[in-house]
Amino acid sequence: MISDRLRVASQFLKGYHYLADCGTDHALLPIYAIEKGFIKKAIASDNKHHPLLSAKKNINDHRLYGEIKTALADGLSYLNLENDVDVVTVLGMGGSLIVEILSKAYLYNVKRMVLQPNSQSKEVRKYLEDHKWEIVDEVFLKENDKYYQIIVCEQGKMTLSELEREFGPVILEQKSDIFKERIQLMIDQLSVAIKQTNNNKTLEKLNQRILFLKEAIK
Ligand SMILES: C[S@@+](CC[C@H](N)C(=O)[O-])C[C@H]1O[C@@H](n2cnc3c(N)ncnc32)[C@H](O)[C@@H]1O
Repeated sequence: MISDRLRVASQFLKGYHYLADCGTDHALLPIYAIEKGFIKKAIASDNKHHPLLSAKKNINDHRLYGEIKTALADGLSYLNLENDVDVVTVLGMGGSLIVEILSKAYLYNVKRMVLQPNSQSKEVRKYLEDHKWEIVDEVFLKENDKYYQIIVCEQGKMTLSELEREFGPVILEQKSDIFKERIQLMIDQLSVAIKQTNNNKTLEKLNQRILFLKEAIK
């Protein structure tokens, strides 16, 4: 069974041709996307042997060795040799690592990227803003008590406000109940911290942060 997170991310691959799934682990996403007919072929890559072995086994079990090839590679280092890759996924990694991978990659022929940073999503959006990528869609979701953000971008230009850079322009626009729940949780945690401190500088910082968070769900 594929997770909701991967299922939602895969919806954004519809109509594309050749996917590069970086950090594929068990190759669940490319297998699902091909079986659903969202894409025609894929390269499933990982920088570690063990995940790649699981990927190969799953691909064989699903008899998709003709459609999905595997690569042991750091990040997307193979993209300059795979000119017809038109869509890229980097899911389930920290934001700094995603930025590091993207900044080393040859992305000129890529039309769309679907990214799911587990943390530091602000860094990812800043990278996109600075490197002529435009966010065209986003999803904020909760699965097994964890919150996830999926960022979909295409080549283009955008300018983000500080609030948009941190929380996502589309996520802010949609203000889903799950997003509001998450922000309220953060506000509640900070309110507890406020009660536990009497340092004026810390109090000021905490209060400013709460005001910023309140702005996100206004
Ligand atoms: C937490 S798993 C996420 C798997 C899958 N993408 C998902 O979202 O369910 C992260 C995977 O990324 C791989 N990985 C970590 N750093 C990488 C890098 N620099 N290049 C390629 N793969 C990497 C890990 O080996 C691991 O299989």
